[in-house]
Amino acid sequence: MTDENTAAEHPAIEVNGVPAAAAPRPGQCLRTFLREQGALGVKKGCDAGDCGACTVHVDGLPVHSCIYPAMRAEGRAVTTIEGLAAACPGHGRGPGEGLHPMQGRFLDAQGFQCGFCTAGMVMTAATFDDAQLADLPRNLKGNLCRCTGYAAIGRAVLGSADATAPARPDRGAVGEDVPAPAGRRIVTGAERYTLDVTDAEVPRGAAGLAHLKLVRSPHAHARIRSIDAAPAFAVPGVLAVLTHEDAPDVLYSTAQHELETDDPADTRLFDTTVRFVGQRVAAVVGETVAAAEAGVRAVVVDYEVLPPVLTAGAALAPGAPLVHGDKDAAASGIADPARNTVAELHSEVGDVEAGLAGADVVYENTFRTQRVQHVALETHCAIAWTEGDPRDGGALVVRSSTQVPFLVQRSLARLFGLARERVRVVTGRVGGGFGGKQEVLTEDVAALAALRLGRPVQLELTRAEQFQATTTRHPFEIRVRAGARRDGTLTALALDVVTDTGAYGNHGPGVMFHGCNESVSVYRCANKRIDARAVYTHTVPAGAFRGYGLSQTVFAVESAIDELAAGIGMDPLQFRRRTMVRRGDPMIASHAEPEEDVLYGSYGLDQCVDLVTKALRRGRARETRELGPDWLVGEGTALSMIDTVPPRGHHAHSRIAVLADGRVALDVGTAEFGNGTSTVHVQLAATALAGLGIAAADIVLRNADTALTDHDTGAFGSTGTVVAGKATLAAAEELARRIRAFAAEARLPLPARDGGLVAIAAEASRRGVVLEAEGRWGGTPRSVAFNVHGFRVAVHRGTGELQILQSVQAADAGVVVNPRQCRGQVEGGIAQALGAALWENVRIDGTGRVTTDILRQYHVPTFADVPRSEVYFAQTADALGPFGAKSMSESPFNPVAPALANALRAATGIRFTELPLTRDRIYLALREAGRPLPARPDPVTA
Ligand code: FES
Repeated sequence: MTDENTAAEHPAIEVNGVPAAAAPRPGQCLRTFLREQGALGVKKGCDAGDCGACTVHVDGLPVHSCIYPAMRAEGRAVTTIEGLAAACPGHGRGPGEGLHPMQGRFLDAQGFQCGFCTAGMVMTAATFDDAQLADLPRNLKGNLCRCTGYAAIGRAVLGSADATAPARPDRGAVGEDVPAPAGRRIVTGAERYTLDVTDAEVPRGAAGLAHLKLVRSPHAHARIRSIDAAPAFAVPGVLAVLTHEDAPDVLYSTAQHELETDDPADTRLFDTTVRFVGQRVAAVVGETVAAAEAGVRAVVVDYEVLPPVLTAGAALAPGAPLVHGDKDAAASGIADPARNTVAELHSEVGDVEAGLAGADVVYENTFRTQRVQHVALETHCAIAWTEGDPRDGGALVVRSSTQVPFLVQRSLARLFGLARERVRVVTGRVGGGFGGKQEVLTEDVAALAALRLGRPVQLELTRAEQFQATTTRHPFEIRVRAGARRDGTLTALALDVVTDTGAYGNHGPGVMFHGCNESVSVYRCANKRIDARAVYTHTVPAGAFRGYGLSQTVFAVESAIDELAAGIGMDPLQFRRRTMVRRGDPMIASHAEPEEDVLYGSYGLDQCVDLVTKALRRGRARETRELGPDWLVGEGTALSMIDTVPPRGHHAHSRIAVLADGRVALDVGTAEFGNGTSTVHVQLAATALAGLGIAAADIVLRNADTALTDHDTGAFGSTGTVVAGKATLAAAEELARRIRAFAAEARLPLPARDGGLVAIAAEASRRGVVLEAEGRWGGTPRSVAFNVHGFRVAVHRGTGELQILQSVQAADAGVVVNPRQCRGQVEGGIAQALGAALWENVRIDGTGRVTTDILRQYHVPTFADVPRSEVYFAQTADALGPFGAKSMSESPFNPVAPALANALRAATGIRFTELPLTRDRIYLALREAGRPLPARPDPVTA
């Protein structure tokens, strides 16, 4: 065959107007081909055509490139996000040069948080005509976003950005809608996420980047008799097979906390006992992903299968198989390995039985919440490599999708016996976390392989692995007993909680303790009791999830509060007003003494209740829909409180310096994963530097790199603003003092306008003076933040269909640093909570296997599923937070499910005690209660 014939049969794929240098490999999908051609804006979210993060245009039509064979694109023009502006006749008309109008709209409206979905969203929306723009729920159904709740995306696509939000605010001070520093890079596909590295950064090809895949257990409980790696080594391209014989025999927890003793040391990198379906058994490293995958299939493992225990109830039964019966309680930090109990809590204040006896109404019921997956669009991934010998002056470097780079650094150093400073962990932009990336799930094994092979090794989990082998929200079973008097006094509140932590105890104790704290301490009641146990089972481990246990217990407590209100004949919000804590009240869960370091830095719960009350009233008044007699309508509300910082210390460090060109370099330890931290830090610094010629746009931020700052506990528990932000504020205030002092000494005038720091910077440089400062914060004392949610819903008597007629949330976030961004966090939290309240459920079959391991089996809310929510903020200023700010990232999730269940109760008279509130569950409950309409005649047989 001649070259001409080959060229005719395989014409080149044109990528962004340029013929690709290479031809696709047989069977290769277009996504991987395009990324190999350098189009790193094309993302991988599922590899199954479900999420749309990989959307590109082929001859102008949007396709999911992960399920589009690359060879089908031969001879066609492919456009990625990087080439969109140039490919569109209207390019250049955006707010900046070289933007497609749709990119400009996303930038104007800030239609993103982590931004991992943004390229795909823009590519899809860029093809819409007017008719498609008029029906976004239908036309955006192929693109998922886990962060925004779609409200900001809808505003972006329709070009309806806030009229009140200027494209470039005056200075970028606190209170302004400052755009995210990375915004332009996000909408153009230039922002670099974890695996978006160039050949120059991590070389590919011979002796370059190798790929790691994991052999996983098919059994829920088994002992490994032997592993035969020889067949894998026979696969071309396989470089190494690593098993327990190659891994350090060190017990640790995948959970990452400031205090390592917060979590039990119950996990080995590779173990000889497997405790859930999907647990790592061995790693295969190959020259390519395909070679590594073929090697995984070839490894032969001989298991001695053991009986598993798959539910918390079964795990607590006498004689149950033990999940960690081989562990010593004291050494491992497990409360009672012989009872499958990783942690427990029993405490009482007052006398609950007396409180119940003295009540006019007593309510008692059991509530159940399910496993929920984070579904961050970027899966867990890491690249590890060495720079010299880490034991001899070199370094182990890990680029990871993590919320906690410094804690990962500490864990890797301990695991591999390295000095901490010989390990560097760095993030790119992280594509969503929601608590799921407060773990070490990829870094350890990638590092093991890199140390063994001496070459870069990449591990990227598939979407199926995310479901099977990362972490979920803890399933809770909560028995509530509560009593009230007719005057609205809460006389008793008792919870008996069992949480299922799965096969390992990562976050098991913390989630249990936190779940049993603010959900109870938000109420004034003399008699409270908590009994709680966190229980091991042979199932996929649970972990940190937005709300950290509160969303589960708040569902139970807020349902019970509504039932008590109904029992004493009082409006539920009126009952809450009477019983919720007021400023100055002790915040007591079930210990006689409240936590000393939690203070009312501010208090806006009363405002939140008022805001929701008024919004629901307005909504009722303006409601014009005629739903007809088949629909039952009801309203429901719920409240929640959250400590603004996790307990027992949370540390942050920031460093700030004047650059020679008059701009300011700001290095912060905390990570950005869609929580908006980078924008907030720039605003805090700009505000502290007011009057010195520095605006937000002049501040160059770097973050989440252990080489840049001192220790930072990480981005979880909504600490990016109230802990790391305090460190940045302290640094910026000190820098402002130093600049003023230097200017006075040098007899230079203070700058009168933005950019005016150049003269001072030049003089400092001439004199050899470095104008810099650093700031730290340790996380205490802590304050409290509040959220109140209200729904008005309609339920169809005959089908169980649920319509959300109105959704409103009021939040007490203290001084809101960036109103547009904070509203987006609330909207995103509501949407994620709606998913957990209505649809999402990680199902496990009778063998322990997760059966919902692709997105189309697991209902992440789409654009069409999420109603628009009204968001209001209380007017408070926190005495503890930076410039009066409080946390507001995870807490909007917490009151959503109970508010929805309470609205359903009001509409139907039925108390739903188990999540999710699926249409089937509602239908069956209606039928059981005798509520459905008479069966309609079947149109076929009638
Ligand atoms: Fe859409 Fe994060 S912004 S997935």
